[in-house]
Amino acid sequence: MSEPVLPSFPEDFLWGVSTSAYQVEGAVSEGGRGRSVWDTFCETPDRVFSGHSGKIACDHYHRYPEDVGLLRDLGVGAYRFSIAWPRVQPEGTGAVNPEGLDFYDRLVDALCEAGITPVATVYHWDTPQAVEDAGGWLNRDTAKHFAEYAAIVGAKLADRVPTWIPINEPMVTTVYGYGIGEYAPGQFLLMDAIPTAHHQNLAHGLAVQALRAVGAKQIGTANNHGPIWPATDKLADRQAADRASDLLNWLYADPVLAGAYPESMHRYLPAGFADDLPAINAPLDFYGVNYYEPTQVSAPSEGNPLPFDLGQVEGYPMTTNGSPVVPDGLRQFLLQLRDRHGDRLPPVQITENGCSFDGIEDRARIEFIAEHLRALRLAMHEGVDVRGYFVWSLLDNFEWSKGYQPRFGLVHVDYETLRRTPKASFTWFRELIRGEH
Ligand code: FCB
Repeated sequence: MSEPVLPSFPEDFLWGVSTSAYQVEGAVSEGGRGRSVWDTFCETPDRVFSGHSGKIACDHYHRYPEDVGLLRDLGVGAYRFSIAWPRVQPEGTGAVNPEGLDFYDRLVDALCEAGITPVATVYHWDTPQAVEDAGGWLNRDTAKHFAEYAAIVGAKLADRVPTWIPINEPMVTTVYGYGIGEYAPGQFLLMDAIPTAHHQNLAHGLAVQALRAVGAKQIGTANNHGPIWPATDKLADRQAADRASDLLNWLYADPVLAGAYPESMHRYLPAGFADDLPAINAPLDFYGVNYYEPTQVSAPSEGNPLPFDLGQVEGYPMTTNGSPVVPDGLRQFLLQLRDRHGDRLPPVQITENGCSFDGIEDRARIEFIAEHLRALRLAMHEGVDVRGYFVWSLLDNFEWSKGYQPRFGLVHVDYETLRRTPKASFTWFRELIRGEH
């Protein structure tokens, strides 16, 4: 098979990879870490594939020096990782656990020594159980607690971590965590989950303020986005697609970028939401987009409490995770975002993109990334200001309710021995970074 030919990117384009704490760290009961909603969810029968959990994961908590070695070898400019709130504040509020903070301190030092820019996500879904017990993201106070936690990690690390992302993919927490119960905390509230979006948006805004106050230089987002396709051209399906896009895309992008919510969402938002919009609309240095796939919807069938029926995107190759491979969806979404927000949109970073495929000779992943980069380059030609691209993920890791089955890494992890083996895509990505493709 021939090598995919790639368009060239600007010299200063930032190449990176992303991971998150619960998916790679393991060591859930070590170093004074408190419990998170994912510990609880994994212990609940029938929630996670085959009873898997993040108890050991990739053991990154102990093996981070080896992982930083891999990053150095790969030659990335930046590494995006997340900080586990329950490691830093075991109860989510109050007392700080110095041992937890020290872990990130060591990781950041190792990255700096390797010449890799640390990009810290403050929260990637591992809410402290005590915070959840007090209502979690349904409780407005969680936004204030989160800002306090952000100030703590910022004060410790912002001297060496220039780039910060307060919250990873609030949509997924709202929809999968509280809306349909597929992810922790496993609630089934449907549209009544929407207050959790507002509280996360507020938490984002308050954390931006808190992080700036302690010297963070670059602050952005990592929101999950994709185009929403109507199943047919019929008006009812197109309207359903607009409603779905309000729920899946604009409920998070609009308040952050424009200080407003989509009209169709107003009735589901908590009373007095408008007062919080100025805080949510704090200026950002970049807008992070995580892209995986488009979504297809049609008009809601009778009795559906949601304003759309979910469909299946057909006619595309599939990953082992059951996601359709649609590189152009990335370009489509970036143009929509740019058209909707114009000058309000700061430079974009692709903070996650990747796929699950098996094997060490993972040609399918190489093609996936190459094709998404081609789509990205097209979007840039069409005027979207994109400054960087982060592959999800460095390592195979714990893929939430699908357990360890899907393999998203550039590096294979043997979960028996925890041995890391770089895949063909690792070598290919390293060559790409060096400008050899
Ligand atoms: C994203 C998540 C990330 C990972 C990838 C595959 O939605 O942010 O943790 O699970 O999907």
